[in-house]
Amino acid sequence: MSLDQISLTRPDDWHLHLRDGPILERVLPATARCFGRAIIMPNLKPPVTTVQQAGDYRDRIVRATPGDSCFEPLMTLYLTDNTPPDEIYRAAECEFIHAVKYYPAGATTHSDSGVTNLGNVAAALAAMQDAGLPLLLHGEVTDLDIDIFDREAVFIKRHLARLIDDFPDLRMVLEHVTTAEAVEFVLAAPAHIGATITAHHLLLNRNAMFEGGLRPHYYCLPIIKREKHRQALIDAATSGSPKFFLGTDSAPHPKHAKESDCGCAGVFSAPVAIELYAEVFESVGALDRLEAFASFHGPDFYGLPRNRDSITLKRQAWCVPESFELGRTNSPDGAAVAIVLRAGTAISWQLADD
Ligand code: NCD
Ligand code: ZN
Repeated sequence: MSLDQISLTRPDDWHLHLRDGPILERVLPATARCFGRAIIMPNLKPPVTTVQQAGDYRDRIVRATPGDSCFEPLMTLYLTDNTPPDEIYRAAECEFIHAVKYYPAGATTHSDSGVTNLGNVAAALAAMQDAGLPLLLHGEVTDLDIDIFDREAVFIKRHLARLIDDFPDLRMVLEHVTTAEAVEFVLAAPAHIGATITAHHLLLNRNAMFEGGLRPHYYCLPIIKREKHRQALIDAATSGSPKFFLGTDSAPHPKHAKESDCGCAGVFSAPVAIELYAEVFESVGALDRLEAFASFHGPDFYGLPRNRDSITLKRQAWCVPESFELGRTNSPDGAAVAIVLRAGTAISWQLADD
């Protein structure tokens, strides 16, 4: 049977980069058109490390939210070697902060202030465990002798099991999982260990980065892996397991910063995200499982209510625009654009107007 329309409880995005300033104003509507809430990544420059900074950033997001939207930003703090346990307790008390993000120093875009050694943050993690604030993990090691395609699997082996042993009650989300090893680990772990999965890791394997030439817009971290890993991710997302939920990791960068001799990591997917998840779920005959993955498992994991309203997706092919205006940035020619995932190609599902 092929459906022409599906309705879902309004979904949330459990991993999103909104940036700041003019770019924030341009990219936020792409998320707010569809998602009720999003976990907002704190990797600004400088990073969001205090409750005060998270509150100020939240105010800027609320000011940039389109008037007809009820979008709610769920803020996070950026964990550093020096995050004081007191700041963690203040964050846990604050109703708009929902998690703390761990970036290994140097792992990805704007991660220079990240953690240099997990031993340095033991007191902060103990405070999070005590206060019930979840830890969101960019689960990759950064050692130069580890192959880039192995960084997630090595992080899991070297650090994740130990973290769970040391902090048995700490809720953790292994963000943007990309490997069969991650899926297997999360499935075997206790119920309070979850994972987010992006649309691009479900859609693409690593050949996409080199198809006919170098494709910088598919470069992200953790890097896209082999086909067998993509299959494991599809199995996980469509399995119905409450441990896996939607997190786009939509990460806009100006086109010139990606198409460069040292292009930066990040895939910009917000304008097409829910439509592409629908495409993936349909490709394996699992459209009936999309709602739980996109709208139920995330809030259940975070202990938040599910959204009450709904969205509708129609089967109606449309073409993703070639470029997305980012407004004025510090690009060489003033105004900048971003390239959206699947730019210039057709997508078979479209979000219906209310
Ligand atoms: C993210 C970004 O651009 O901020 N990039 C990415 O490739 N995912 C950072 C991150 O989440 O690793
Ligand atoms: Zn991210």
